[in-house]
Amino acid sequence: MRIGVLTSGGDCPGLNAVIRSVVHRGVVDHGDEIIGFEDGWRGLLDGRYRDLTLDSVSGILAQGGTILGSTRVEKSHLRDGIETAREHVAKLGLDAVIPIGGEGTLKAARLFSDAGLPIVGVPKTIDNDIACTDVTFGFDTAVSVATEALDRLKTTAESHQRVMVVELMGRHTGWIALHAGMAAGAHAIVVPERPFHIDRLTEVVRERFERGKKFAIVVVAEGAKPEPGSMHWEEGTIDIYGHERFSGVANQLSRELEHRLGKEARPVILGHVQRGGTPTSYDRVLATRFGWHAVEAAHKGAFGHLTALQGTDIELVPLAEAVADLKTVPAERYAEAETVI
Ligand code: F6P
Repeated sequence: MRIGVLTSGGDCPGLNAVIRSVVHRGVVDHGDEIIGFEDGWRGLLDGRYRDLTLDSVSGILAQGGTILGSTRVEKSHLRDGIETAREHVAKLGLDAVIPIGGEGTLKAARLFSDAGLPIVGVPKTIDNDIACTDVTFGFDTAVSVATEALDRLKTTAESHQRVMVVELMGRHTGWIALHAGMAAGAHAIVVPERPFHIDRLTEVVRERFERGKKFAIVVVAEGAKPEPGSMHWEEGTIDIYGHERFSGVANQLSRELEHRLGKEARPVILGHVQRGGTPTSYDRVLATRFGWHAVEAAHKGAFGHLTALQGTDIELVPLAEAVADLKTVPAERYAEAETVI
């Protein structure tokens, strides 16, 4: 077979492990030829690619980022590019295309698949918000990085008797905030699924200081918002990809908490640090398994599907199901965090 692979959307630790796995499984076990499109869907639309050999993927298992590059592409550009993509796939003699990406990429994968292209998707996102898979690779790494940051912030917060408001990634879902907050023993966790009330949040922190504690750590997902009308709130804007550009929940919250509590507060925005660097061993293994199973799916002709972790097994799920809903933090999981608001 000839297989094309691409990485699209926000990068994520473990992408290179998938690419390497696709090449190893394809070349060594099936005698396939693998090419990699550069910069995600854009490479497929522009016909920009390079051959991927065992040599070219040597040593990339533990590397963060993606050797192929990644971009976001506007939806209209993708819709207009279906015919071009079809021509490039035919001209390059590809029997399968394996896009590795998150929600937006998988929606595009479905679009191309419905148009008749031979697609097998691989889900990735540090946000862990893809419904059909128990976990996506990148999430474990992001949680580990965030947990380490929270542990470090605790010591400086205590020295200065401050409230640290730590903003973690998570546009629509609070999985990273929930897990890192629990792992580090944060004193309040705020997620997008549950609009916060500033009075309640202030009371949680005030009550902690009244018990004689010297500092507080508030973890907040970047997409979290207050209950409408409960505090002054600056909304963000929408970018050309339809994604919200947030106005900075940590900044707004720390200003408000400082004012209400009369304690020094500092916003800390962890940002893209959560996506950088080497993947954890868990993410390397999951990414490698996804790559292996994506090649097997291509050989079985299971197009229009993506790989998904269900329990301990990798299953194939129709792309249509995968993009139907986001996996949000359910109330019962939120309630398990020791102090929630
Ligand atoms: O979807 C992954 C993610 O890291 C989100 O958590 C975050 O909101 C977004 O990407 C950031 O996107 P960009 O890299 O375009 O700033």
